[in-house]
Amino acid sequence: MTDQPPREQWGTRLGFLMAAIGSAIGLGNIWRFPKVAFDNGGGSFLLPYLIALLTAGIPLLILEYTIGRKYRASPPAALRALYRPTQAIGWWQVAICFVIATYYAVILAWSLRYIGFSFTKAWGDDPNGFFFNDFLKAADEPGTISAFVPGVALPLILIWVVTLVILGLGVRRGIERANKIFIPLLVVFFGVLVIRAVTLDGATTGLNALFQPDWGALTNGSVWVAAYGQIFFSLSIGFGIMITYASYLNRRSDLTGSAMVAGFANSSFEILAGIGVFATLGFMAAQAGVGVDDVVSGGVGLAFVAFPQIISEMWFGQVFGVLFFGSLVIAGLTSLISIVQVIVAAVEDRTGISRTSAVLSVGGATGVVSVLLFSTNGGLYFLDAADHFINQYGIALAGLVLLVMVSWVARKLPMLQRNADATSAVLLGRWWKLCLGVITPVVLGWMMIDSLINEFRENYEDLPTSFLLYAGWGVALAALVVGIALALIPWRRPSPALTEDEDRDLLTKGEPR
Ligand code: ALA
Repeated sequence: MTDQPPREQWGTRLGFLMAAIGSAIGLGNIWRFPKVAFDNGGGSFLLPYLIALLTAGIPLLILEYTIGRKYRASPPAALRALYRPTQAIGWWQVAICFVIATYYAVILAWSLRYIGFSFTKAWGDDPNGFFFNDFLKAADEPGTISAFVPGVALPLILIWVVTLVILGLGVRRGIERANKIFIPLLVVFFGVLVIRAVTLDGATTGLNALFQPDWGALTNGSVWVAAYGQIFFSLSIGFGIMITYASYLNRRSDLTGSAMVAGFANSSFEILAGIGVFATLGFMAAQAGVGVDDVVSGGVGLAFVAFPQIISEMWFGQVFGVLFFGSLVIAGLTSLISIVQVIVAAVEDRTGISRTSAVLSVGGATGVVSVLLFSTNGGLYFLDAADHFINQYGIALAGLVLLVMVSWVARKLPMLQRNADATSAVLLGRWWKLCLGVITPVVLGWMMIDSLINEFRENYEDLPTSFLLYAGWGVALAALVVGIALALIPWRRPSPALTEDEDRDLLTKGEPR
């Protein structure tokens, strides 16, 4: 037990839900989901996707909420209290968040800059050349860093300042308030965008292309792997974010209900994004007189090459551009805030320094690394490699190890189930333990093997092996090593995590006034 000031709490349940949904809805929903769904069977992909949501997404959300709320601490301290050896997984997640935050912010910076470019359609008639050559000044070879790019650095610094100011204001005044503003704004921006998209010429062809089911795809293992991978990234599970956010919950809050609301809200937005993006791609295909297959792209190609092209072709395209890039910035910002919060909260809990000092020191350091590395002409390649490897061998692998440790080694699921059930309207049945103890670890283990086989079969994106060794494998391995190293440093001050008795007291006697 500690002599520290009481932990901050969310002002309302709605505030927590907004923050959890804000963390979940991000770039993964807008630019990742539509292409993943299209590539993996279109309409029929919704089946594995829904199964992944119900068997992994929501059960894992409930697990992370329960751990965070019960121990009232960031992932390293909470997992240490749950079962000491899992502390290293908590630190591993903190290191993963550090890596992701450094490049995630860059995509927001590009989007921010593209809001401005939309007004003048600055890319002219060559969006591809404009993005890679004029804007990013991308080097020809991966691994070369020979120039600093101020056009990227300036919006990136702005993104970091906004993120750190919001975090510095605290959980209730900063994160909660920001999400209460940003989420409704995002719904309006994206709602208008989707309405405009579905009324474009060719929209129906785009939607048919997205939703046309290919039932045969369901027999392909990699389609299932893609569904589980999408749910992990999109719901922000395995990052330690939900443990951190739930650590500011009131002891009596409903966990299972909140997880269902957050899970379904995120997936609804994701499907809406699929509709918006494919209706727009249908328009692009109709303009060019080609099939939708010929214009489909995801990620960087979708946002910074295909969309600019569409904006140029569209009547009042400027408004569409502002809505699209504005949505990317807002959705991404609420996710970035949650990712950096994991690092800040872990350092606060571990060292006892104030929130302001933690935000300025570790939050600031994350921002500095992000600006120095990614505002260079080599940034794009680093981003691409780091993103792929940290997702596969960071988030998903840490999630797998955590599940195996919690359910098989420490056998904590029955205790956590009782804890969640004590305050939740929907009680967890045996299915919850079955999902977390059997289904999800098996699918994740299979995902790992499938992905490793592909990795050795061909280099990711045909990038050179020497580059992948440090920018991909090296980064993922470094996150693990740093996690283990941080866990080995002895705690000299008391852990902030609640004990069993304190947790029980809070439940029976209520929160101290
Ligand atoms: N869940 C966040 C996203 O979808 C990280 O981008």
